Amino acid sequence: MPIPRRLKAAVMLTALAVAPVAALAAGDKMMDAINEYRELLADGNPSELVAAQGEELWKTPRGPKKASLEQCDLGLGPGVVKGASAQLPRFFKDTGKVQDLETRLMTCMETLQGIDPNKVINERWLKGERENMAALVAYVVTESNGVKVKVDTRHPAMKKMYELGKQTFYYRAGPMDFSCATCHGDQGKRIRMQELPDLRTHEGAIAGWGSWPAYRVSNGQFWTMQHRLNDCFRQQRTAEPIYGSDVTIALSVYLATKANGGKMVTPGIKR
Ligand code: HEC
Repeated sequence: MPIPRRLKAAVMLTALAVAPVAALAAGDKMMDAINEYRELLADGNPSELVAAQGEELWKTPRGPKKASLEQCDLGLGPGVVKGASAQLPRFFKDTGKVQDLETRLMTCMETLQGIDPNKVINERWLKGERENMAALVAYVVTESNGVKVKVDTRHPAMKKMYELGKQTFYYRAGPMDFSCATCHGDQGKRIRMQELPDLRTHEGAIAGWGSWPAYRVSNGQFWTMQHRLNDCFRQQRTAEPIYGSDVTIALSVYLATKANGGKMVTPGIKR
């Protein structure tokens, strides 16, 4: 019976929220509890609701051109959604750019529907067209759940982005002189009860990059990869990157390349 299981999950969530987290010894128990909570949710990932909204949006004629996104080419041909996000970011001939899922969706919204990309770029998280973007992303990545990451790095533009992503990953900045590697370059590191994968390794990259976009239990929000990366720039205490800018795509190229061959678990479920 699905309801008691969800109920149990909800009760556990409340327990997690009020549990004392100060004691280090409690850490492992907490991880067990979080993992158990994840399992309970696995047959009812809250992202399903967001994905359903996204599928609806995908099929709904919108924008000045009153068109749907059903002819959007995410890299596997117009209208092909299945498996598409597992091969992103990729180089697109029509735009002459390496694009991640979100910037590619912006291109489709602009060309097919006439929706100005600035409506997404200048919006706040989870508002307006950026909220629509999150729903579309949830729909698209659900169609790559369990699919192997297969990012093609042969194009020179991809090679450049990989190098830029790598540089960015190790670049120290901000008042604390942190780089991404400061928090994501160790085995078994943990911050605020969240296991931090070593993103420099294949295992870490598939566990970390390959399980985003994700539903975040702590705030009940669905976050895209752009949102995840943006928040980590904040954790790094450095300037917020522009939504969809090259540096964010480069980081995704770097991490996706490391994750190549591993299975995507999308949307993921996070603390
Ligand atoms: C000060 C530490 C810190 C820095 C610096 C940092 N992050 Fe993070 N990162 C975190 C924390 C903490 C989480 C888990 C967040 C959560 O779920 O609340 C996280 C999560 C992630 C995840 C998802 C991992 C998973 O298993 O879900 C990715 C990918 C990631 N960060 C990439 C980056 C990149 C790329 C940079 C550099 C631009 C970066 N991070 C910089 C602390 C940091």
